[in-house]
Amino acid sequence: MNKTLIIANWKSHKTIEQSIAFLQDFTTNGSGLNLANKEIVICPSFHALATVGNYIERNHLPLKIGAQNISEFFEGAYTGEVAASQIKNLVDYVIIGHSERRETFHETDETVEKKVNMALANGIVPIACVQNENNAVPEGAIYVAYEPPCAIGSGIPDSPSHVQSVFQSLDSRFPRKKFIYGGSVTPDNILDYVSLSSLAGFLVGGASLDATQLCRLVSVW
Ligand code: PGA
Repeated sequence: MNKTLIIANWKSHKTIEQSIAFLQDFTTNGSGLNLANKEIVICPSFHALATVGNYIERNHLPLKIGAQNISEFFEGAYTGEVAASQIKNLVDYVIIGHSERRETFHETDETVEKKVNMALANGIVPIACVQNENNAVPEGAIYVAYEPPCAIGSGIPDSPSHVQSVFQSLDSRFPRKKFIYGGSVTPDNILDYVSLSSLAGFLVGGASLDATQLCRLVSVW
């Protein structure tokens, strides 16, 4: 059986020291978590990937690691970009086409498709994000995260019934995908979503920054 993914998207938060402090807190608070059916994926910014990965490995923490973005280009003369091949040994997953990337950095369905293909070519599992049922989902992406922009960081999640209808509509256009919901998910509302059909996980921003809160979110169901 596939595990439910809990993707902790730290966005542009945490220094290296703060990232380590989170992992220390997780070690204390997360020791009793039942992760038989769940997989927690920590997604720090690029600067902390190696340190976080090393810490997880050295301390045998039950955590996977993901990036928040990759370049659409191969390794080369692209100042400021990070190619998939440069981080393929550091991460298991990569978030692609998050709403913030689409809105602030003008990523399109075409960019998302190029990045998904880069991830797949480098053995990284892409989490392809869509803002609504009209976005395209690249063929190779298995995981699709529905992230309605108005629910992100607003404290007002999309309703479970609307999330379900978006999953269904995406499923009819792009069969055999696994669906993830993201947008103001907290320990207090996650139970409203866990029984949606074809739900494969959650993408969590604000509530993933604090280890105690993340552990609570994982343990309420
Ligand atoms: P949020 O972020 O949980 O802070 O709303 C969600 C996201 O960016 O996916």
